[in-house]
Amino acid sequence: MMTLALSKGRIFDETLPLLAAAGIQVLEDPEKSRKLILPTNLPDVRVVLVRASDVPTYVQFGGADIGVAGKDVLIEHGGQGLYQPLDLQIAKCHVSVAVPAGFDYAHAVRQGARLRVATKYTTIAREFFARKGVHVDLVKLYGSMELAPLTGMADAIVDLVSTGNTLRANNLVEVERIMEISSQLVVNQAALRLKQAQLRPLIEVFTRATRLAA
Ligand code: ATP
Ligand code: PRP
Ligand code: MG
Repeated sequence: MMTLALSKGRIFDETLPLLAAAGIQVLEDPEKSRKLILPTNLPDVRVVLVRASDVPTYVQFGGADIGVAGKDVLIEHGGQGLYQPLDLQIAKCHVSVAVPAGFDYAHAVRQGARLRVATKYTTIAREFFARKGVHVDLVKLYGSMELAPLTGMADAIVDLVSTGNTLRANNLVEVERIMEISSQLVVNQAALRLKQAQLRPLIEVFTRATRLAA
């Protein structure tokens, strides 16, 4: 049996065409079913649905053999025990620093002000500001980061941006782009050896399908 860990929503949706290229069809719709283990048309392949930030953990500890996770999530996880053979070029976005429209971020940085920054991405934010030599107090949040500066809880946020619609809707502006994000294929290192016969061909089909889509 090969177990693939996916999160509901964009990762599931954007992985489906890659699975189709490998002849794999998921037999239930995660938006309709309450099941967490979804069968596929192949009796020896199943999909498990986990939170996006839990995908690396499931693959690391063997709850799944293979999974799809954003670079953001992988950096925060640390990547221990994971083989990352392929950038799938899906769920593309970037990590940015954003502030309320009226806030002079550049001035604050020049003045050496201590900034309070709200984020779910504490590792990425810590490394970014350390490299810049900017002192920050990080406030860990688990979602809706945009709200933090609007309520006066933080000066800035570090969050994912794609179209910029969420920032605009909350009167925030992007002031720095930290890194580009896309989703990676992650494989359990032991499974790659023990289930080579199943995993290698799948990785090859995904590689070809990713190149074709580019
Ligand atoms: P949860 O729902 O558990 O809080 P989440 O919000 O991280 O998790 P998703 O929104 O499905 O779950 O995000 C999964 C991955 O998709 C992220 O880790 C990131 O790599 C990417 N992603 C997130 N938001 C966007 C976006 N707006 N556009 C493109 N890719 C995105
Ligand atoms: C993500 C992310 C941003 C938004 C950015 O949220 O956390 O808030 O997308 O995308 P945009 O620039 O195109 O607006 P998501 O849609 O995943 O909602 P969530 O709060 O449920 O994670
Ligand atoms: Mg999200």
